[in-house]
Amino acid sequence: MHHLTRTQQFTRSSLDQLFALAGSLEKQHDDSLRGKILASLFYEPSTRTRFSFESAMMRLGGNVLTVENARESSSDVKGETLEDTIRVMNHYADIIILRHPEEGAAERAAKISRIPVINAGDGTGQHPTQALLDLYTIERERGKIDGTHIAIVGNLKYYRAARSLSYLLGKFNNIHLTLVSSPELRMRDDIKTYLKKHDVTFEETDNMEDAMKRVDVIYQTRMQKEWMSEEEYARLRGRYIITRPLADSMKEGAIIIHPLPRVGEIMADVDDSPHAVYFKQVGYGHSVRMALLKTILNGKSGRRD
Ligand code: CP
Repeated sequence: MHHLTRTQQFTRSSLDQLFALAGSLEKQHDDSLRGKILASLFYEPSTRTRFSFESAMMRLGGNVLTVENARESSSDVKGETLEDTIRVMNHYADIIILRHPEEGAAERAAKISRIPVINAGDGTGQHPTQALLDLYTIERERGKIDGTHIAIVGNLKYYRAARSLSYLLGKFNNIHLTLVSSPELRMRDDIKTYLKKHDVTFEETDNMEDAMKRVDVIYQTRMQKEWMSEEEYARLRGRYIITRPLADSMKEGAIIIHPLPRVGEIMADVDDSPHAVYFKQVGYGHSVRMALLKTILNGKSGRRD
């Protein structure tokens, strides 16, 4: 793999290899990326994705160039195109981590970049590395992914990480999805078509309370005001909130995951529930991103003029 722009690029075997490497990196870091430079180019806000990639690079001995608010502090302000910025960054770094508000931005960047580009979220398109860490969390916490019943809750129409995860789940066996949302936020048809084609069975419902009792994994999502009208956001936020009694109604061994940030959709008193793993998930993400950087960068000599 050179660029990572969408999760359809993975096979079952490449996922197994990545997760095995992530597991080994949980126990022992190395400095195999000494001398390599990661550039994080973020045109949208981020806490986890940017910091975890940067921390992952530093833990592997590499260095980091960062612009955390490219819309205000890069030459984007002067009207420079994304393509020109990528061409320029090719002279400074060995890999680019790109977050951008436009769907397809990472593909555009990858098309003209000689160094690898990793999609760190492109509009309402995909967020591949979040989905990788979501899946890794399920494997680490439950011991396997095959045969898992997962409920994805809330914001299915706009949530790029849930879209990326759906593509990954198509690589596994005997997966059942319960898609919980209000009618206007249903999963888009392209994903439903993909799920059917890859034998992932699913049901659509607006009843989270019932789903919580039945599933192995609850994947809670945030209502994203950045993609919604004010009216839509005001009407839909608060529809699906995980309270402590609801968490207590889950099966033994079932887990609650969330990409974070949360803005009220999981109550704070759920945090010490045995089902709550969303902060552990952040740590798993760090290991997955280290594994990804090693996989993509090891063996590459860096800048190719
Ligand atoms: N989960 C996630 O993408 O978080 P950030 O927006 O903080 O990077």
